[in-house]
Amino acid sequence: MRINHFPTTVAAAHAVADRIAERLKAKPNLVLGLATGVTMEPVYERLVARHRAGEISFAGASSFNLDEYVGLPPSDPRSYRATMDSQLFDLVDIDKTRTFVPDGLAADPDAFARRYEAMIREAGGIDLQLLGIGRNGHIGFNEPGADFAARTRVVDLDASTLEANSAFFGGATPPTQAMTMGIGTILDSREIIVLATGAVKRDAVRAALTGPVSPDCPATALRNHPNVGWWLDAESGADVAA
Ligand code: F6R
Repeated sequence: MRINHFPTTVAAAHAVADRIAERLKAKPNLVLGLATGVTMEPVYERLVARHRAGEISFAGASSFNLDEYVGLPPSDPRSYRATMDSQLFDLVDIDKTRTFVPDGLAADPDAFARRYEAMIREAGGIDLQLLGIGRNGHIGFNEPGADFAARTRVVDLDASTLEANSAFFGGATPPTQAMTMGIGTILDSREIIVLATGAVKRDAVRAALTGPVSPDCPATALRNHPNVGWWLDAESGADVAA
């Protein structure tokens, strides 16, 4: 496990984008695992800027997103599909038929979840998984209590997650369920980058890196993975040494 400290949020996010860019250059058919959320916005901005500057191409890449709200159609701007389209996919040269996001409207969610897992395997597995962290230590939408071996499935969201994400819903409660990759799915990735920024993530980062490995803090599962980097700003990383 590597811990990388940066003085500012932007510096941490841009360093993550630059790491992704490096990986893309080394392996143009990279299989990316992607996250949404406030934390990722400057990462995608930087990737788009580097693409526009002619420095990176996503033409050979494919991607699998971690999660999607149950009940939101892709046309809803608050869906994670729409968010990814507007923040990244529509702004770079990725082949959108190779960008995958769980289907929040699947008529048979269990069957869809099994298919999503199969699609990841058929793509050769995820080379580089980008993760944020919830204030309660969630990764993807694997909330406290989630099994470390869990695969893609529908889950109930915690009250603290609903509250944190209500900002995206004009202060209203977001959908209370999501389909998410499981912790087992995430741990299959060859490399994992966790980006955590801001004072609001300080407790979760401390618990994830120094607390007991336990489903009470899902991000502690990452301590079992051989290739994880944490990218922190001064506020989120205040309690953890490099
Ligand atoms: C989003 C996801 C979540 C977020 C986490 C942090 O796809 O899987 O785990 O990474 O909730 O969200 P922000 O960045 O909004 O604080």
